[in-house]
Amino acid sequence: MREILYRPRRLRASAGIRNMVRETQLSVHDFVYPIFVVPGINIRKEIPSLPGQYHLSADQALEIARQAAALGIPAVLLFGLPEYKDAKGSSAWDMKSPVQRAMMLIKKALPDLVVIGDVCLCEYTDHGHCGLLKGQEVDNDPTLDLLARVAVSQAKAGADVIAPSDMMDGRVAAIREALDVEGFAQRSIMAYSAKYASAFYGPFREAADSAPKFGDRRAYQMDPANVREAMKEVDLDVSEGADIIMVKPAMAYMDVISKVRESFELPVAAYNVSGEYAMVKAAAANGWMEEQRTTLEILTGIKRAGADIIITYHALDAAAWLR
Ligand code: PBG
Repeated sequence: MREILYRPRRLRASAGIRNMVRETQLSVHDFVYPIFVVPGINIRKEIPSLPGQYHLSADQALEIARQAAALGIPAVLLFGLPEYKDAKGSSAWDMKSPVQRAMMLIKKALPDLVVIGDVCLCEYTDHGHCGLLKGQEVDNDPTLDLLARVAVSQAKAGADVIAPSDMMDGRVAAIREALDVEGFAQRSIMAYSAKYASAFYGPFREAADSAPKFGDRRAYQMDPANVREAMKEVDLDVSEGADIIMVKPAMAYMDVISKVRESFELPVAAYNVSGEYAMVKAAAANGWMEEQRTTLEILTGIKRAGADIIITYHALDAAAWLR
């Protein structure tokens, strides 16, 4: 008989031993739960492209936030579908818009729940791009003032964390300065630093009615083939004052998460985006994969890659499973 010097299977022999040597512990504290807020009251309508996720009026967003908090989830991330759209996206800084109203309600009722505001213009512009247009192009610098206005309006509404997802150059510095000037020096910025031009945002754009009316976002979001460029983007956001840096999407970008984790000291967030969620839901609905095991494996993988914070539509389910 051959002599085997070391037997790794010994440490896999029972659930007890596996629990003792597990290197990555997924926790409910890792999660951020995204919510889509719509105008009106008492609205709770399932989003066809995101089964199990809902369009919620501000009052119903509060109820879901309550549920998230009760499960121990530390934070929610708010997206809005506004009442009106125009070329500048001015409903994005309207204090009566769904996101601002939901923030006020949630902060009042659940002061300990961290409220994060997505700052971008694509849901609010009639052309669906993430900034002001000059001809067919998104004009970077004039867009910065608008993004700063959105950030300040969300801070006024109670947002603890401002999360710019537009990918304009210089937006973190512009937002930091505006927040400080307006008396919100204590509010943090979670920057979508390495955000790629991804097909995985498809279901979100249907949910948020934010698809560009012409062209695509490749002139501002990153090329999926690049990782050195991601380091540069993160570096810039850190130097401009970001408190948390983000990689988005997560699953096809695990190497980017891992490299950012190794190269920077700030907390790293990863966004497990709509298409990643929708794939799991579709496969599970067809009986092709087990939803719970698949989901927990994905979330554990994202954490193992180096994410401290995982933004995920699975948060409510995963939190319940982890109980
Ligand atoms: C807004 C924004 C998007 C997402 C988050 N913020 C869409 C986009 O950039 O087109 C995607 C989130 C998801 O797919 O879950 N710019």
